[in-house]
Amino acid sequence: MKLVVLRLGHRLHRDERVTTHVCLTARAFGCDGIIISGQPDEGVKKSVEDVVQRFGGKFFIEIRQDWMKVMKGWLESGGEVVHLTMYGLPLPEVIEGIRSSDKDKLIVVGSEKVPRKVYEMATWNVSVTSQPISEVAALAVFLDWFQQHREFYINFENAKIKVIPSPREKKVVRLA
Ligand SMILES: C[S@@+](CC[C@H](N)C(=O)[O-])C[C@H]1O[C@@H](n2cnc3c(N)ncnc32)[C@H](O)[C@@H]1O
Repeated sequence: MKLVVLRLGHRLHRDERVTTHVCLTARAFGCDGIIISGQPDEGVKKSVEDVVQRFGGKFFIEIRQDWMKVMKGWLESGGEVVHLTMYGLPLPEVIEGIRSSDKDKLIVVGSEKVPRKVYEMATWNVSVTSQPISEVAALAVFLDWFQQHREFYINFENAKIKVIPSPREKKVVRLA
């Protein structure tokens, strides 16, 4: 099953840091890639690609202007859309339904106000509590529930750098 994040409404400068963190979280928690819509930002793409180069794995980053075309195309090719929003149904109530389908998942997170159409097109509108939180936190919690903690055991292929878990020190090995 493909697992891809769609980051909506990226704004240059203002969202640079948070969008980068959305990308890094998607990658670390086992997504195949991310599609960023909004203002094109080659800087974010480059810095995430740099992490992929060093820490391994096959994570892709695409910049696309037309989010509606992305969502429509995804649904038409048989995939499902999970929109993370504080207004949706609570994660614990819907996670089994989402996990029981083996269709590709597009996980949508917003930045500024999310258009009504997204709520209508989504297969599921899912809340991680009904309180406003960061899109990074919402994505991490959703993916952890979806993956049932498997993100802790992902092997990132072709890594040049690997962190060795340690109780006190920073241990890093260089593999290439
Ligand atoms: C900073 S919020 C802005 C939300 C915006 N005010 C709106 O009307 O949709 C950015 C994104 O974080 C995510 N988010 C924020 N709180 C959430 C929650 N409690 N559950 C799930 N996702 C949430 C949503 O994807 C949202 O689009």
